[in-house]
Amino acid sequence: TFVVTENCIKCKYTDCVEVCPVDCFYEGPNFLVIHPDECIDCALCEPECPAEAIFAEDELPEGQEAFIEINAELSEVWPNISEKQDPPEDAESWDGKPGKLELLER
Ligand code: SF4
Ligand code: F3S
Repeated sequence: TFVVTENCIKCKYTDCVEVCPVDCFYEGPNFLVIHPDECIDCALCEPECPAEAIFAEDELPEGQEAFIEINAELSEVWPNISEKQDPPEDAESWDGKPGKLELLER
């Protein structure tokens, strides 16, 4: 399965949702997650993310392991999203900033 990781937080570009053939993205206030049981491992979303926040579960960068559980948990409670939206106005200024996990809104 594919996993949305920390750099999506407060960037939320949503380019990823447009290409997913099974519409398995779910939307929170400042972050998106992938439903692990619905993702078919097509890998289409990975190159679409301008923030490079999407990885295969077995290729997660060091320190991003917690996002496996975060995606599984929040995809059960957040609403589905399948159409691209405008990103937050300050998205670019948050791209690449460390320590965004504590800013995740649920
Ligand atoms: Fe959707 Fe494919 Fe990305 Fe899984 S890997 S979330 S199925 S686009
Ligand atoms: Fe997030 Fe990248 Fe999608 S920033 S919303 S995973 S395009």
